[in-house]
Amino acid sequence: MIIGAEIIQYENVSSTNSIANEMIKQRVAKNGSVVTAQWQDAGRGQKGNTWESEKGMNLLMSIILFPESIKPDRQFDLSKVISLGVFDTLTTKTSDVSIKWPNDIYVRRDKIAGILIENSITGSAISSSVAGIGLNVNQESFRSDAPNPVSLKMLTGTHYNINDILTEICTNIDRRYHLLITGHRRRVANDYRSALFRYGEWALYRDVKGVFTGRIEDISDSGLLAIKKR
Ligand code: BTN
Repeated sequence: MIIGAEIIQYENVSSTNSIANEMIKQRVAKNGSVVTAQWQDAGRGQKGNTWESEKGMNLLMSIILFPESIKPDRQFDLSKVISLGVFDTLTTKTSDVSIKWPNDIYVRRDKIAGILIENSITGSAISSSVAGIGLNVNQESFRSDAPNPVSLKMLTGTHYNINDILTEICTNIDRRYHLLITGHRRRVANDYRSALFRYGEWALYRDVKGVFTGRIEDISDSGLLAIKKR
């Protein structure tokens, strides 16, 4: 097992992604090492947003990878692997889990986990990758103006051991990553497509020209959605 072979657990950090990036810079990072924290005072989300998480309530983790065999034009494969590993873990605990493109994890219409992947590209290779995952586990109310956060506890009423979930996620991502690097990228792509929120359903989408009714038909290798307009 590569992912989670080494787990470095902190109490308070700025951001587990920042710590992981610093480890890479200092050349002390190992392939598959995982950094976790109970609390982040500058947790980072997508599009420059912050990531809200009450101390000790949720899973905050970053996986360090040196994905030598994955070319930069296929970097979205990493996104698929990470989202599927989180998806696999949650489907054993609750129903109606899906991946909202590109890599938010939803239960019905609410967001339970966010993923922030930071790849460094050198020439024609991904020299390193940090995959940050924030999974809402035991937190029961959210302050930020994020539209629709939800946690496992809010959905099931159960209190979870966060380290057990960490182990499950590492195992599931490791399995998916192994498939990817051993030539099974089509299988990973098919599973990702089947797990997509509203895959094959007519729904409202927005592009530069405005709102339209469409249906997700496919995902390109570079991760772009192909939406058929009605
Ligand atoms: C999103 O906006 O949906 C992505 C959120 C990613 C949050 C996680 S929490 C652990 C890791 N460290 C960070 O600073 N961000 C990611």
